[in-house]
Amino acid sequence: MTTPDKLTPADIAALRPDTRLVHGGILRSPFGETSETLYLTQGYVYDSAEQAEARFKGDDPGFIYTRYSNPTAAMFEARLALLEGAEVARATASGMAAVTAALLCQLKAGDHVVAARALFGSCRYVIEELLPRFGVAATLVDGTDISAWKAAVRPETKVLFLESPTNPTLELVDIAAVAQVSKAAGACLVVDNVFATPMLQSPLALGADVVVYSATKHIDGQGRCLAGAVLCSQKFLDDHLQTFLRQTGPSVSPFNAWVMLKGLETLPLRIERSQSSAATLADRLAGQALITKMIYPYRADHPQHELARRQMKGGGTLVTFEVEGGKAAAFRFLNALKVVRISNNLGDAKSLVTHPATTTHQRFSPEARAEMGISDGMVRLSVGLEHVDDLTDDLVRALAAV
Ligand SMILES: Cc1ncc(COP(=O)(O)O)c(C=O)c1O
Repeated sequence: MTTPDKLTPADIAALRPDTRLVHGGILRSPFGETSETLYLTQGYVYDSAEQAEARFKGDDPGFIYTRYSNPTAAMFEARLALLEGAEVARATASGMAAVTAALLCQLKAGDHVVAARALFGSCRYVIEELLPRFGVAATLVDGTDISAWKAAVRPETKVLFLESPTNPTLELVDIAAVAQVSKAAGACLVVDNVFATPMLQSPLALGADVVVYSATKHIDGQGRCLAGAVLCSQKFLDDHLQTFLRQTGPSVSPFNAWVMLKGLETLPLRIERSQSSAATLADRLAGQALITKMIYPYRADHPQHELARRQMKGGGTLVTFEVEGGKAAAFRFLNALKVVRISNNLGDAKSLVTHPATTTHQRFSPEARAEMGISDGMVRLSVGLEHVDDLTDDLVRALAAV
């Protein structure tokens, strides 16, 4: 039982994004709590057998079982959908649960998927190894080459999948151009928007059909819980996603959904701060002797700088660079850092650094890594909320130790 909020859905729709992230989607209980409630419950009771029947038929709105939905998860989903401009959102247990559900819910044996080669390692596993086991063929293309997307499409192509910027090389894919290819093929474009975050890039507005998130990253923003989300149209939910999620059960825990819901309140502030520091650090480090390559989407020397300005509202919170001297030099650099910690995670309040060739992309052959542009001296930095001068001091001191 929840009470209607003073702010009607029409009021919320008229609010600016930052305000929606604080007030959107609230299901306030009759106790009138200020902060959103954490509903730790597996099930729900009904007033009568007739009500239970009506609920299962879909005639009585309300909750049935937390594997299906939960009020705290519903608040997180509504708030995220408002931010993204999506008709609906569904939360999942992790980002990979979101990716896997968005793909499997709509694919069947005989279908074909085209995906950009530069993908997060687990997404590559799902596309390259898991889908073919169930008779779904996959073609990997250079995501930056629109003619490669066009050439890869076949009559049985059902899904196009990409992430932009990519992990860890911060390469961009022109989402609007791929969306055109997808529409012409009658396929569904799924975009993993983790690196850009919903603050900086809106794939649905660029023509994507489905957006997926690892909420684990910037949406939590303080390195606590795992969660994911799929954002789509009501039709996609009804035709594909809803039944798949309900029956296979990659549900988000209510506690994790609550953390993510509260994370959305501060997302704009955190992204603004981390992004501003990331841009500053990219410029400061680019001038250092041992940095042989600096990759940051909003820098003028990024090969897709114009696309970045067109497609994204900012350069993002990640910076990737190459340290002269390959793996040994990169390791010496990482080991000398004190404020910035070594971790393969990203989107945390704490700045985190990783060596992709030996961690996130270790399972690929050296040739496959080279094809993805991942060198042995490459380092990926996720910029947190510390003072940018402390981060600069730490990074410059560690470079000197190399
Ligand atoms: C681009 C990208 N997609 C998906 C995922 C998977 O997210 P999760 O770890 O929440 O399953 C990650 C994170 O590790 C990621 O970086």
